[in-house]
Amino acid sequence: MSSGNTDLRPSPQTKQLVIDTANFYMEGVGREGISRTELAAQTREIEQAQRRIQDGSSAGLNAEFAALNLAHEMLAQLPQIRAMASDLARHQDVLVVGIGGSSLGAKALQQAVAPQTPLAGTPRLHFVENIDPYFLQGLLSSLDAGSTAVLCISKSGGTIETVVQYLVLRDWLARQLGRKNAIRHQWVITDPKRGWLRELAERDGLPSLPVPPQVGGRYSVLSAVGLVPLAVIGVDIEALLQGAADNAAHCADADVTANPALEIAALCVLLDTRRSKRTAVMMPYVNRLQLFVDWYCQLWAESLGKWDRARPGSTPAGTLPVRAMGAVDQHSQLQMYLESRHDKFFTFIELETCEHDLPVPLDSFDAPHFPFLAGRSMAEVIDAEFRATRQVITDAGHPNMTIRLPLLNAHILGQLIDLYQRATIYAGLLYGINPLDQPSVEIGKRLAIDYLRGTPR
Ligand code: PA5
Repeated sequence: MSSGNTDLRPSPQTKQLVIDTANFYMEGVGREGISRTELAAQTREIEQAQRRIQDGSSAGLNAEFAALNLAHEMLAQLPQIRAMASDLARHQDVLVVGIGGSSLGAKALQQAVAPQTPLAGTPRLHFVENIDPYFLQGLLSSLDAGSTAVLCISKSGGTIETVVQYLVLRDWLARQLGRKNAIRHQWVITDPKRGWLRELAERDGLPSLPVPPQVGGRYSVLSAVGLVPLAVIGVDIEALLQGAADNAAHCADADVTANPALEIAALCVLLDTRRSKRTAVMMPYVNRLQLFVDWYCQLWAESLGKWDRARPGSTPAGTLPVRAMGAVDQHSQLQMYLESRHDKFFTFIELETCEHDLPVPLDSFDAPHFPFLAGRSMAEVIDAEFRATRQVITDAGHPNMTIRLPLLNAHILGQLIDLYQRATIYAGLLYGINPLDQPSVEIGKRLAIDYLRGTPR
């Protein structure tokens, strides 16, 4: 638990995620599921994982698993976060330059919970993530430098994609506004002490906020990395943190029946190691969660796809996360899910209350063709599609779980983020690997630099 500011308290009156893991078990899905006995046989490992998390979270932002303390710890930094956000919000356009964990979380939350019609006076947020000169050139040609802010986010302060795009943007600002003025259009979020970006911020006096050193990129959405861009567009960042804190309070037990993150992790690891399920498909029936699934894919893949360094030659950990979207992928991936190899498990996400539901209007010509649509709304149609797909997936013997979101708002997304950050760390501990590092990714980064130097091996 956090050792810092603890003003957030569990809020039982607010709505919670409903997590239904019944179809991960044999009694729900048949022999491809996990038996209660198999799960019970893991009790020692599960309790150890819970103890590791507890011990590794007991030092606030200095803890090994500091990411799990952000919901509480960031409260103290909210004034600085809001101050930076309000300076940025004075511009018409805000460019967020960053990649991977430095952009996916804010992007996902913007899509999920930002108001459908932007609040008056709210800037447009643009994520400059992948290196693509065509995209960046197109974006710049549509902007007025005088009303544009550049927010560069990089934990390491030296990621090549981010550095390159930031340099191009800094040059563009300087050409349009002059070097001195251009400085007033740049903000930075990076390591408090190290890296090129930190040195630059100090040299040029750029306003900056820290990424807590113990918080890795893909676990940083609840730090300034995610909170600043989200505050710029008016997302309720306190509700987001509250949601995460509420979920944490529901995931504090060593008993899987009282800790959904631990149960999800234990079942996913058993499905991989005991039932050879190598693919983890996440399929929301909500367009606004498409980027949340991207965030989950990065978190799950980069955290779990690795060897146990202490046991050379052991089976690598991790299930490949796959993005799907209901109902669209019923017309694309579903055939393969149903008839191809039994090497997958599924997580469905459904939304209980859809704001702005629309009735399906039928006239006398349409009605005889679609009698089953009479009196139905769009939300009822997608709900029927979700139920049907889940049923055929279950009937085909594929283990699956469902997360039901009562609503789509910052508080609920905070819960979902904490649930998956926690489940990912638990899963890493159960596999016996380090869920916080990404050793092989670094090799490719170094090699790309060798290519730029003209000396690839
Ligand atoms: O999770 C991670 O560590 C990575 O995905 C990083 O977020 C990504 O490589 C960007 O790194 P940085 O924030 O240092 O620029």
